[in-house]
Amino acid sequence: MFDYEPYSNAHEDDPYPVYARLRASAPVHYAPESDVWCVSRYDDVQAVLSNSEVFKSKTQGFQQRQLRERGSRLSQLRMAARFMIKTRIPPWKMLNSRMLIMEDGPIHRDMRNTVNRGFTPRRIQAWEKRIRELVDGCMAQAREKQRFDLVEELAIPLPVTVIAEMLGVESERFLDFKRWSDTIISGATGPAAFGEGGERVAAALGEMRAYLAPIVRARRASPRDDLVSVLVAAEHADRPLDDHEIFLFFLLLLVAGNETTTNLLGNATDALLDNEDQLAKVVRDPALVKGVVEETLRFDSPVQFISRLTAVDAELRGVSIPANSIVLVMLAAANRDPERFENPDCFDIERDTRGHLGLGFGEHFCLGASLARLEATAALDALIPALPNLERVTPQREFLDSYLIRGRSRLELGPRSAG
Ligand code: HEM
Repeated sequence: MFDYEPYSNAHEDDPYPVYARLRASAPVHYAPESDVWCVSRYDDVQAVLSNSEVFKSKTQGFQQRQLRERGSRLSQLRMAARFMIKTRIPPWKMLNSRMLIMEDGPIHRDMRNTVNRGFTPRRIQAWEKRIRELVDGCMAQAREKQRFDLVEELAIPLPVTVIAEMLGVESERFLDFKRWSDTIISGATGPAAFGEGGERVAAALGEMRAYLAPIVRARRASPRDDLVSVLVAAEHADRPLDDHEIFLFFLLLLVAGNETTTNLLGNATDALLDNEDQLAKVVRDPALVKGVVEETLRFDSPVQFISRLTAVDAELRGVSIPANSIVLVMLAAANRDPERFENPDCFDIERDTRGHLGLGFGEHFCLGASLARLEATAALDALIPALPNLERVTPQREFLDSYLIRGRSRLELGPRSAG
């Protein structure tokens, strides 16, 4: 039997060989310990994401069921009580509130329409000048140092500052935003998902709620041209968002806007350093930067998998999946499917990447796709000309401790040694 457990860090450094084995010999794989079904071939991933009647996004309450069941009933109740006290989120709100990424059908469409206004191509394009200004600021600081950590100097501050400014909150507090979103991500997708990590997540959620409440009140009284005002204005729609739902939206935008673009930049830089021929090509022809961005989304996807819940009994490739099962849709494995992409393990910035699944597919396709592409292009435009003179300071790679998000936790660069 094929032995693969997705909620584990066993393959964190290089998950691609195990994905290849999954695609070849267990394309619809049941992982007993995690109690989830893993779907790894391109066609199957697309089929799941195209069928939201059967494969629902509302995984809330079911996800990580197995992990919760590891604790005793009493310890679970204690955890739940502490969670409520720290976050001040009443239990009925936890169960009944709408969150864009967890909804299906008309509710999802309504919510997406609400926020789409803030993400139209025209609106995003209007941020280009500011984004390039921020990149220049980060690069100027980095250049002052002999060695610099690309993640700390550019890949983290850029997206967190941009999303904070778009939301209309104080970008000077970006370290708090980053700390909150890191804690939440590691609580949901890394080692902190086990045991006491839940307490830290609850504390971060509590701090964020306390921070946001007066801002929401202020935007209600006098709206501005920012995303919090867009969310507040949605209160006048057919199905208004309540305060908790505004908070969930804010949380989603902050976390999604942060954790992913940071890793796209680190992964792209690492891939270019590993593939000097590709680096030389893009240095010669800067128009290829867009190819670097898309190929990185395919080759080393920051979001490795997403999840769905079966609404009814389902069948994929002759395998029966019972109703109420969690299905892990393995975007990063599908992006390396040789049936879809020729020579998939090769990083090729000139390939036709159309159809890659790095930003998802179907109704929930990434809302921030144009923003992520713009940020990554601006950052790489500035970084790439300098890269031929830089190298990794240590050969050892440092990856994020997450089974879902793939990225470098540090990427220290210094002048290339002669020879
Ligand atoms: C490289 C960067 C990014 C990657 C790899 C990425 C990836 C993804 C993926 C795979 C999904 C699909 C989730 C699903 O179907 O369950 C998604 C959805 C989403 N992304 Fe991104 N994302 C990125 C950047 C951003 C940015 C900058 C934002 C900005 C705020 C953002 C906001 C969202 C939101 C709100 C959704 C939910 C959309 C929905 O449910 O309709 N993302 N993203």
